[in-house]
Amino acid sequence: MKKNTIVSLADANYFPLLEELINSIKRFKESENVAICILDAGLNKDQKEKLSTKVDEIKSAEWDIEVPQSKVKEKEWLKSQVSRAFLPKYFPNYEKYLWIDCDAWVNDWSSVELYFQACDNGKLGITQTIGPGYKITSKVNWLFGKLAIIKSQNFKHAIKSKIGIDKARKLAFAPHINIGVFSLEKNSKGWSLWQNNLSETLKAGNIFGSEGLAINMSVYIDDLETEFLPLNCNWITSNLLPKYDENQKTFVEPYLPNYKIRARSAYKLIEIDEKFKVFKGGISVIDIGAAPGSWSQYASKVVKNGTIISIDLKKMEKINNTIQIEGDFTEPNIQAKIKNNLHNPVDVVMSDMAVNTTGIKDVDAIQTGELCKEAMVFSKDVMSEKGIFIAKIFMGRSFNEIVALGKKIFREVKVFKPKSSRKDSKESFIICKNLR
Ligand SMILES: C[S@@+](CC[C@H](N)C(=O)[O-])C[C@H]1O[C@@H](n2cnc3c(N)ncnc32)[C@H](O)[C@@H]1O
Repeated sequence: MKKNTIVSLADANYFPLLEELINSIKRFKESENVAICILDAGLNKDQKEKLSTKVDEIKSAEWDIEVPQSKVKEKEWLKSQVSRAFLPKYFPNYEKYLWIDCDAWVNDWSSVELYFQACDNGKLGITQTIGPGYKITSKVNWLFGKLAIIKSQNFKHAIKSKIGIDKARKLAFAPHINIGVFSLEKNSKGWSLWQNNLSETLKAGNIFGSEGLAINMSVYIDDLETEFLPLNCNWITSNLLPKYDENQKTFVEPYLPNYKIRARSAYKLIEIDEKFKVFKGGISVIDIGAAPGSWSQYASKVVKNGTIISIDLKKMEKINNTIQIEGDFTEPNIQAKIKNNLHNPVDVVMSDMAVNTTGIKDVDAIQTGELCKEAMVFSKDVMSEKGIFIAKIFMGRSFNEIVALGKKIFREVKVFKPKSSRKDSKESFIICKNLR
């Protein structure tokens, strides 16, 4: 009987990511001694059959804490936010549990060992979302140029979940703990602490995020003994892109001493590239709405000696191989500046431009849609015949117009929702190929 288990959860849409996670575990010989257990939050029959040959146990996820149907809205995958606090109930035969979200994967076996070691003696093994290179920990709105209104992720959730201002303040500037990967022993008091906090946060807050807030409360308010593991044990690529080390053929931290990334989370552009085969060495790319720069960074890694022009209203840090233009893309002089830097037609134009949200979803979607259309029309002028255009769009009123414009300019138009894009966000991506 295997002593320890790795657990994850998926529904039918996330199944491909779950398969990648399982494959990333199984490529290590050491995985033979660790069970893989899966919580099913809406997998289909074929998927379950396929899984049954690869994993040790599959159980249906339940609502372990009752939540009103009005909050669920048929999003059964939200069970993952609750059931992960009850793992020994589902899979009682193990000593230690390592949870890994299905959109993450194991890059180095030492991370699995560290998590299992970290949870010895009832401790929680987990990683904080803080480390060298992280630039933003909280959102700030400046009033009259001087007065800062600061909203941290923990504080925002705490207020929404009505856990009381004192507790909210205690959590406000504690480094956020990411619950996407964690370890706990079967008999740890961490489970009941977390479950009690989760019952409290679920009462008023959204389901999504409640489990994270509850674990932050357990650690920072209830003082659950915790082993804080290095950032590279749960590397979130949407916060800071790793570097690719050509010699070791693996991802490493972007700053010296470039430690190997042990476990990493998926990212939208990487998924788009994997599906549509957008980037290759030597091509030219325009990245519009590029700050803080993770798309450009990824492009710079994959196009190698190619060229990238990155444009944004905001100043960006220097990225290899990129020409950076600061300014409003919709201004004719900025578009002229881009064109002046081109010597040949470009291969890829991508736009992740998004306006500062007003909170009124229709207005945000329309304004971002206008930016997308402008980028599309611009790409027609600068792109090679076989060029590819990628842009973020929001489902909403302008959606049909954007697709129609895409079909007018390009021969092939696809709309794609990456698995790493939150299901409850209206964001999607349009991918257009081959100019008409
Ligand atoms: C979601 S962020 C882009 C993130 C980026 N793809 C990355 O991976 O780091 C959207 C960006 O669009 C930029 N933006 C919005 N309107 C713009 C405009 N008219 N011209 C240039 N950039 C714009 C914003 O400044 C913001 O940095």
